[in-house]
Amino acid sequence: MEKKRILIDCDTGTDDAIAIVAALYAPDLQVEAITTVTGNVSVKYTSENTLNLVRHLGFDIPVAVGAWGPLKLHTDMCYAEATHGKAGLGDVKLPKSTDSFSSKNAVELIYEKAVELNGELEIVAVGPLTNIAIALLLHPELKNLVKHLWIMGGAVYGGNVTPTAEFNIWCDPEAARMVLRSEIPCTLVGLDVTTKAVLDRDDIRKMRGLETKAGDFVADILEFMDRRRLEGGEDLLMHDALALAAAACPECLKYKDYYVDVECEGTYTYGHTEMDIWEESGHEANVSVAVGIDLPMFKKWLGDTIACSKL
Ligand code: RIB
Ligand code: CA
Repeated sequence: MEKKRILIDCDTGTDDAIAIVAALYAPDLQVEAITTVTGNVSVKYTSENTLNLVRHLGFDIPVAVGAWGPLKLHTDMCYAEATHGKAGLGDVKLPKSTDSFSSKNAVELIYEKAVELNGELEIVAVGPLTNIAIALLLHPELKNLVKHLWIMGGAVYGGNVTPTAEFNIWCDPEAARMVLRSEIPCTLVGLDVTTKAVLDRDDIRKMRGLETKAGDFVADILEFMDRRRLEGGEDLLMHDALALAAAACPECLKYKDYYVDVECEGTYTYGHTEMDIWEESGHEANVSVAVGIDLPMFKKWLGDTIACSKL
């Protein structure tokens, strides 16, 4: 099967980092570029974390720096330092790369790759959607050049940053609305399934047992997540790796087509992904929404994929 040629847009953070490692070794994916955005931590750290990780694992993939903030500043900043630590990778340290970021910014690299691949580029977006929205604003023809958008974001029910909003969407609802209205074919992997994508100490042992740089890095991140859990923090949730799995292992999830829009005004609902599950809106469905997960299949896919790392 032809490899999917993907660009990852991320706010590297702990779970983004695991998704990036999986993408680098997934047999069915070709990572063409990675772009970064402020989200879990500032774009300074999300960019450094991404470049250091990719070069540490020996990949010469361009990493381009993106937006430092949302289209509309609505909060001090969308940081989730409590979950990911001040620098974004918990207490895990990576060798500092001496390489440079791409000479292009994230928006320019997204557009350049979309034109270069002439309709074959797929984007895995696992942070706030600011870069993609700006790329669409500057290059409206992008909607005809991106084959598919795989987004970690939103939820049919609930939220993790407010009772009604998921973090990536809440950081930049205006950008999310623009992206979901862009007519680019889109799959949304939200909290309904990512909160079930939980790893445990057995998975940590398996990663450590690979005795590879990738396995050890993932085990280090998972160990940090486990300490965070023991201190009352989030579980070992693979939000972003599950969104990547939708692209590389679609059978790990079940999907329903819904019309989805984003609340950009509400006092209590700002950043909410409004999903027309009863088809009342009169709008055609615009998003394939993940509504079910085969957890054993996902965990096997993730473990087998990272086991492809040999060094
Ligand atoms: O709500 C979870 C999402 O927010 C994940 O992408 C995580 O990395 C954070 O960005
Ligand atoms: Ca993320």
